[in-house]
Amino acid sequence: MRHPVVMGNWKLNGSKEMVSNLLKGLDAALKGVEGVDVAVAPPVMYLDLAEQLIGKAENKIILGAQNVDVNAKGAFTGDISPEMLKDFGASHIIIGHSERRDYHSESDEFVAKKFAFLKEQGLTPVLCIGESEAQNEAGETVAVCARQIDAVIKTQGVEALNGAIIAYEPIWAIGTGKAATAEDAQRIHAAIRAHIAEQSEEVAKNVVIQYGGSVKPENAAAYFAQPDIDGALVGGAALDAESFAAIAKAAAEAKK
Ligand code: 13P
Repeated sequence: MRHPVVMGNWKLNGSKEMVSNLLKGLDAALKGVEGVDVAVAPPVMYLDLAEQLIGKAENKIILGAQNVDVNAKGAFTGDISPEMLKDFGASHIIIGHSERRDYHSESDEFVAKKFAFLKEQGLTPVLCIGESEAQNEAGETVAVCARQIDAVIKTQGVEALNGAIIAYEPIWAIGTGKAATAEDAQRIHAAIRAHIAEQSEEVAKNVVIQYGGSVKPENAAAYFAQPDIDGALVGGAALDAESFAAIAKAAAEAKK
C-alpha cells in the first residue's frame, strides 16, 4: 500500500514571522489528522527556524527543501549541498520543478544528477515532471513525463525510484487556478505508472505519485479519490495553515 504524501512548496515566500505563524497554525490545524505524511518546503533561509518549530510541534511535520545543488563542498558560490539540508533536518527535497527548469535552464540530465546525489545521501527526492500548455495541446504529455523520468532511469536504473516521490505538475495548472480535472490527472498518473512498470512492476506499484497544480481544499478530495494519485504538491494553498491542513485531511480520509 502506498502511503499518501502532501507537501507544501512555499516557493519564494516567507519571513521569520510568516514561517513561525504558518508552522504554529499548521501544527494546530493538523490535530487528529492521521494516515498522511505532511511535509513543508520553506525557502532554505528559514530551515533553521522551521526545524526548531517542527521540533516543538505536537503533530509530525516533515521538513523539506525546494532545491539542491550537485556539489558536496568547495568553490561553488551560492550552492547548497545535501549534507547542509540534512544538517537542518530536511529530508524531502524538491528537484526539477518547472520554475527551475524554465527560469534556470535546468535540463533533464542536470535534474537526474541531483536525484542521484540526494539518493546517495539518503534523502528523498521529490522529482517534479510535467508538460507545458503547448505540449499538452500537441498531445505530448505522456512522452514529456516519460522523458523526464527516463533521465533518472537511464543513469541510475529503475530501482532508484524506490522510496522517491514523483510530482506530476502540468505547467499550465501551476498558480493559474486552471487545475487539471481529476479524471485527466488520473489518466496521466496511470500512464506514468505504466511507463515505470515497463521496467519494474514492483517499483511502479510502490512509487508515490503526487499531483500538483492549483490544488485547493475544494478540489483536493476529487484528486485523492483517484487510484493513482497518492498525494499532492501544493503551492499557493500551502501558505495558509487551514487550507493546507484541509488538503492533508482530504488525503488521509480518501486513502484510509
Ligand atoms: P500552485 O498550487 O500554486 O498551483 O503551485 C503548484 C506548485 O508548483 C507546487 O510545486
